[in-house]
Amino acid sequence: MILDVDTGFDDAFAVLFAAMSKEINLLGITCVDGNTNVDQVVKNTLIVLDAAGAGEIPVAKGATRPLVEEPLYAEHIHGADGMGDLGLPESKRKIDSRSAIDLLRDLVEGSKEAVTLVPVAPLTNIANFITTYPESAKKLKEICLMGGSASVGNATAMAEFNIWHDPEAADIVFRSGIPITMYGLDVFYHPLVTESEAVQLQRSSNQSAQFAGKLLQACIKKLKQNVTLGDYGAVAAVLRPALLKTEVFDVGVEVAHGLVRGMTVVDRRPRLELMIEPRRIPGAARTNVVLDLDAKAFKDLWFTTVDSNWI
Ligand code: RIB
Ligand code: CA
Repeated sequence: MILDVDTGFDDAFAVLFAAMSKEINLLGITCVDGNTNVDQVVKNTLIVLDAAGAGEIPVAKGATRPLVEEPLYAEHIHGADGMGDLGLPESKRKIDSRSAIDLLRDLVEGSKEAVTLVPVAPLTNIANFITTYPESAKKLKEICLMGGSASVGNATAMAEFNIWHDPEAADIVFRSGIPITMYGLDVFYHPLVTESEAVQLQRSSNQSAQFAGKLLQACIKKLKQNVTLGDYGAVAAVLRPALLKTEVFDVGVEVAHGLVRGMTVVDRRPRLELMIEPRRIPGAARTNVVLDLDAKAFKDLWFTTVDSNWI
């Protein structure tokens, strides 16, 4: 598995889990501009790997901005540093000397097994990888991405942040022909954590649990509500497909500048095959869309992996 992140707090929950899970061979992590600038994303990602007690996992810096538009960050949610402004000490880990797309190419080409790519961020790196190294990208087993929505948006009324931040990149990824599972806003907010669970984590003897608990409690205080494990769910969706309710739909990305730029248009009409071609979304991908999941099982998997003392 390879993660592509814009480490913000919920990317941190995904990285922590993926680095600690005994079910995952985490080959590497690529960083992209999104919740905050890509240099801060790299710093945050290295801090999370320290908290996970991870070995040498290559982390590479990717795109500093979306393909077309200027970046629009999410500090109001993730804080100025992208990770709750906790003032955590910087990591001493070094980033990989390769660019994100060169690391992606090398990891995919070097893996004996087909690789699952889990982007939980704007898709700028993934689009650049597909267009620069199409032969390597075709070797991916699947892309299980956190992004999009078959219902309403969060960044805008109809657009989810990761797609909205770089719609042109998302359009390239959805049209690529690579098998895609879309873990979107329809399930993104299901695995919610309470403040008492965050406090319980901080009482653990595991440094990973203490880190996670501190981050969770900071986010709960900032957002004044229970907090979602967010991006982690896209990683768990790869491991536990039986816990998901999914359906295959035509999905297209709106790139026109207007009210719904960045929207994933999910065609949920029945019997699409009866539709004449021009009435379907042009160039749409047949995408596996996650519509529901077992939130308690998702939470239990995360807690028991991040905190070996969790009961
Ligand atoms: O819309 C939620 C997504 O946007 C998450 O990946 C979050 O980390 C932000 O990147
Ligand atoms: Ca993210």
